[in-house]
Amino acid sequence: MEIAVRDAKELDFACDALILPLFEDEGMDAYPEIDRGLGGLPSKIMATGEFRAKHGRVFLLHTFGKIKPRRLLFAGLGLKADATREKVRQSGGKAASCLRETGAKDIGLSTRTLSALPPLLPADFVEGALLSQYRFKAYKKEEDEEKGEIKSLTTLSAEDWKGRIRRLVAVEAGTRFARDLVNTPANDMTPSALAEAALGLKKVKVKIIEKKEAEKLGMGAYLSVARGSAQPPKFIVVNYEARKALPAAPLALVGKSITFDSGGISLKPSEGMEKMKYDMAGGAAVLGAIKAASELELPVSVAGVLPACENLPGGSASKPGDIVRTITGKTVEIVNTDAEGRLALADAIGYVRRSFPGATIIDIATLTGACSIALGDEAIAMMGTSEELIARIKAASAETGEKVWQMPLYEEYKHYIESEVADLKNSGGRSGSLVTAGYFLKEFAEAAPWTPAPWAHLDIAGTAWTDKDRPYMPKGATGIGVRLLLNFLENLTPQSQK
Ligand code: BES
Ligand code: MN
Ligand code: ZN
Repeated sequence: MEIAVRDAKELDFACDALILPLFEDEGMDAYPEIDRGLGGLPSKIMATGEFRAKHGRVFLLHTFGKIKPRRLLFAGLGLKADATREKVRQSGGKAASCLRETGAKDIGLSTRTLSALPPLLPADFVEGALLSQYRFKAYKKEEDEEKGEIKSLTTLSAEDWKGRIRRLVAVEAGTRFARDLVNTPANDMTPSALAEAALGLKKVKVKIIEKKEAEKLGMGAYLSVARGSAQPPKFIVVNYEARKALPAAPLALVGKSITFDSGGISLKPSEGMEKMKYDMAGGAAVLGAIKAASELELPVSVAGVLPACENLPGGSASKPGDIVRTITGKTVEIVNTDAEGRLALADAIGYVRRSFPGATIIDIATLTGACSIALGDEAIAMMGTSEELIARIKAASAETGEKVWQMPLYEEYKHYIESEVADLKNSGGRSGSLVTAGYFLKEFAEAAPWTPAPWAHLDIAGTAWTDKDRPYMPKGATGIGVRLLLNFLENLTPQSQK
């Protein structure tokens, strides 16, 4: 979908449909000339109660040549006093989804009501509209009765939108990139395919650490996960360096990249196992965010680290009871081969601390089933060692609508993952398993011989996939994390155009 801006009047703008965002408590007040142009029909419809501009509601009206736009789409924003950026994003998603079904190709957007509020709202509406149009079509020949994508959205505004459009395009492309990676089935989205996708990114340096080198580095925990699969592991390191980076501590984003998680020898039940192709959604979010950051040429430097492999129960798979040695020297007893994400991440976090001394680390992972038990599909679970870092992530969350909720890492959780025979075990059992998984990672963010890293962990097990259509996230991979991490990076650079 193409985004354009035109300084034009609503009544004069010829298009398949013009979106009029409306507040519930204002009705047509903001658009008197349009109401008049249609003989007062819109306000009559609202007076009868057939349409109220409640948040997320839409209503389509044909104009039969009375005014230039061929249709009007009323998009409910809810009460003016309750407006938030996220609600506006959702209204944008709803409006564009509805228009897609009507087959509208060229649409317009009036910014009259939205620009009366904080300045970012019109862009948020467009962001929601853009993100709602995503479909994963790579494997389906027949189009369902789909009318097809909206071609262009023209925002009617007298302001300069150059910077905003550039950002919206990058956000959409980064999110689409991540969603495509996650939706692609595991037979095609192998560790090697994920590596190829990383290598295809422009403006970033990419290094693939092969199995031999990973062995030399001592990444025994990560490599143990890959042992049951015929697919070679690929430890992917991407580096985006701005031409003029801000003088800041290095930053690394670590993404869980299990391209399929069968559970290994501790095999998962078959029901729903097909969804475990999304166990690389953390890695996809990291690549999507770095793609967008590099396209926007943000003045930051950031590394992305994806310890990619497959967790399968082959003949040489690791077994419950096996003990492995991590890059930090700490040993881990594998009591459950299905707790594989933390094994791969332990070595990835260790690798970052070895290779980028002093780096701040954010990891993002579909780590635990307990995450969705605790928070459902609505919020990311967050834990970490640096309250300053956590505060920055919370700020990015508030701006992007990607909700995070902090969970505790009390020292009392340590004994859950203490092993009789190794430094740690990889599972503390069911009770508290969302936080004990985080606690396990903390051990590697702080392990000697390096100085402890400021570290935060984001568990996206509940949010990376949606079984129902959401206002701007169609069923399937959501691309969660891309906008959150991008916004986090942007906020490191005060002059950025958001
Ligand atoms: N990838 C899963 C977590 C997961 C489950 C993500 C459902 C998305 C949806 C992870 O590797 C896993 O299997 N975790 C286990 C850990 C347990 C064995 C300690 C879990 O949470 O059940
Ligand atoms: Mn698992
Ligand atoms: Zn997993």
